[in-house]
This record gives sequence, C-alpha cells and structure tokens, in this order.
Amino acid sequence: MGAAMVKFFTLQAPNDKSAFLRIFLGSYFISDGVIRMSNFRFHGVDVTELAREYGTPLYVMSEDEISRRAREVKRCFDERYERCSAFFASKSFLTKDMLRILIREGMGLDVVSEGELFLAREMNFPPEKIAFHGNSKTEGEIAAGLGYGVGKFVCDSMDEIALIDRMAGERGVCTNVLIRVTPGVDAHTHRYISTGEAGSKFGLPPETAKDAVSFCGTLANVSLKGFHFHVGSQLMDNSAHLEAIGVLLDLIKWLYGERGFETRILDMGGGFGVRYTKKDNPQGISDFIGGMVGKVENFCRANGIARPSLVVEPGRWIVSDAGITLYTVGSVKRLPGGATYVGVDGGYPDNPRPALYGAEYEAVLANKADLPPVETVSIAGKCCESGDILIHGIELPEARRGDLIAVLGTGAYNHSMSNNYNKNPVPAVVMIKDGTPRLSVRRQTYEEMFSGNI
Ligand code: LLP
Repeated sequence: MGAAMVKFFTLQAPNDKSAFLRIFLGSYFISDGVIRMSNFRFHGVDVTELAREYGTPLYVMSEDEISRRAREVKRCFDERYERCSAFFASKSFLTKDMLRILIREGMGLDVVSEGELFLAREMNFPPEKIAFHGNSKTEGEIAAGLGYGVGKFVCDSMDEIALIDRMAGERGVCTNVLIRVTPGVDAHTHRYISTGEAGSKFGLPPETAKDAVSFCGTLANVSLKGFHFHVGSQLMDNSAHLEAIGVLLDLIKWLYGERGFETRILDMGGGFGVRYTKKDNPQGISDFIGGMVGKVENFCRANGIARPSLVVEPGRWIVSDAGITLYTVGSVKRLPGGATYVGVDGGYPDNPRPALYGAEYEAVLANKADLPPVETVSIAGKCCESGDILIHGIELPEARRGDLIAVLGTGAYNHSMSNNYNKNPVPAVVMIKDGTPRLSVRRQTYEEMFSGNI
C-alpha cells in the first residue's frame, strides 16, 4: 500500500506553545491503515519540537538513561562486591545537571583539571568522593585539589609525588595518593585512546612504581593507598583489563612479600565500550566488570593477600547512549561522480571525534523517520576542514534543506570536547526527564565567545 501524507494545519491558540508546536509540526503518515507519526522521538520527546524551540545544533540528553546506567554500574559493581566504588569520568560529559545526577546516584567523580574541579566545587560535590587525575598537573591544580580536600590524587610521576608532598606539607595536611601504573598492554583500540602500552605518556612502568612506593614511604604528607591503571577507551571486551590486572597483581604481591606494603585500593580505570554502529558488539557491563573483580578475588585468595578496595571509572558507558545531537540540513550537493554531501549546521566544533579518531556514528533523518532510505550520502560538517565529515556513507531518505538530522550516541566526548573552531558557538544542552525536556545549558552567545578579548 502506498503511504499518504496528511499535513495538519492549525489555528491552535499560540499561548499553548507545546500543543501549538505539536500540531503545527505534526506530519503523519497513513500506512496500511495505521496512522504513524513520522518524527523521530527520543525518550518520549518529538525531536522536531526541540529543534524548533531551542535551535540547532542541539545536544539532547536523557536524564533517565544516565541515571539508569549509573544505577546499573552500581548494581553490578559496588552493590554486588564489598568495598567497591564507581567514579564517573567527568571528561566524558560535565555540566551542573550531570553533577546533580551523580550526587543523587551516589557516584564518585574523576577530574583531570582545575576547571572540572571548579564546577564540582560549585555544586558542592563531596570532596572525599573526588579523584584528581592528570599526567601534568599544575601547581595551581594541586593547590585547588588540596584546598577542596579531594579524596585522592592519582600520581603520574616521581616529581609529582614530591610536589604534592611539599604542597600538602605547606598546608599542614596529609593527602591520599595512588600511583598510576603503565601495565604495558595493548588495548586494541584507536591509538589516540590507548593509554596502557609500554612507553605511554601516562603512569609509571611497574619497576619504577616499586621505587615510587619506597619514595612515598619516606614522605610525611602523602599516604600511599594503592595503584591505578587505565588501559584505554571504547574497549569491546575486558581482555586488556584482565591482562593489566595480572600485571598489577604481580606488583601488589611482590610489594607485599618483599616490602610488606599492603595495597588498600586498586583503581582499574574506565574504558567500557558502547555500540556506536552495527559493527560494535561490546561485552555486557556486568560480565565485563564481574570478570575483573573475579580475577582480583581469585588471585588474592590464592596468594593470601587481603583484597584491595576496587574502583572503576566509567565515562562513555554512562552517557554515550543517553545523548543525541540535532542538526538542520543546509545545502545538499549531488556530485556528478555520484557522491552526495548533506551539509549540516554543525560538525567539528560540536563533535571533533570523527576527524580525530575516525569515529563512526548512526543517524536518522528525524522529520522523515518513517521513510525508507533511498540514497547513500555523507553528512558534512560546516567547518573549513576536509576532515569535517560527521558520517561517511550512510543510507538516508532523501534529505532537503531544512530537514532535521539526529546523530545518535553523542552523549560522551561531544559536549565536553566542543570547541569554537571557525567561531561557532557551543550548542545548548537539553535534558529530558520523564518525557519532559528542559534547557540544561544555554547556547553560547557571541558576546560570551569573545568576552575575553581586550
Ligand atoms: N579513567 C581515566 C584515567 C581516563 O583517562 C579515562 C578516559 C576514563 C577513566 C574514562 O574512560 P571511558 O570509560 O570514558 O572510556 N576523547 C576520547 C576518549 C578519551 C578518553 C580519555 N580517558 C574519545 O572521544 O573517544
């Protein structure tokens, strides 16, 4: 049966804005006798209404999905195993609303800069639940961390340990530290998001970590609690984590046997992969983390070592699927050779991941969501960079100027990596809860963009 499209025009009183928009924008299809709405809905909300209300590009996040995932990590980790805790990697997505959710869900926070700490402090995030990371912390950052009383610093080098000790001493405090260890494993992910291989800029190799343990023993203002590793990001299974855990457990056993040093905390980083496209098939989070905990527990039991408290630091897994980005289609260019570019009003500034890592995404033509795909196109970002292509070769219904595209799975490392290249403003963030959208972060204005110019 052919599909007939019925357009609704409305005389609805404009003071009922949402009803007005709903009816004004509503294009419905009658297909095989069933009336179907053609607009893509995200967590119960018609995204064309969001685009109309807040403009594009627009980040749309689901608070319900973030909370659900935070709870799932807690359920399969800190609620199932004793002395375990999950810290959210704030580099993946950080806003005031995100911090409110984390506080409500009782998660810890991993920060890597004074800026991330600044917002946590603004929101009164419990300092003892903050871990301060970073391979090149400035004195200003260490001072800010000490000033707020963060739960621990994850130290990346000998000289940083010495610096933290001196600065803590000057303030009359003793601060908890972990030593970041480079386990020397290949995480089989994009090399820019692989961090655990030998020679990485992050952490200390196990042999140097032994010296760092001895060094900490001579210092009065740092209390060494244990070790941290992070092998990489967007990992499809826990094999690299298990290998790294093996390296760390050997170190922990050696230090206990040879030096009498008891490891209290083992922080196993983040990296739990998500499904961006059909090609991705990530291991379930419960199996992923359960396997890691099991390996530590078995080893400690077999070797007569007290099992350390365990920490994981998921970022992407919590927020990636909870977000989409909406774009308006601009020019559609069909080249004689067959290539078709569907240009949109965003790109590299709001999502540099395709250009940086060759990251792949799925998308839908949001105002024609029920139409079958008719052509293979590339979704082109608007920046003056040939690499600014959001998606290469995706099948879509015919796209025209003014149509709306939703790129899926953009909740992680999009808003947090946004930039002002070509002087494009950072898009707004809308948060959906219980089917109701609200503005969470306003769109950056040009005045704000240039406010530091003298
Ligand atoms: N812990 C540490 C110490 C990390 O360095 C990271 C990520 C995480 C936890 C969280 O990893 P996740 O669970 O999100 O994979 N910009 C890149 C990702 C960089 C990840 C850096 N570190 C991207 O867009 O793919």
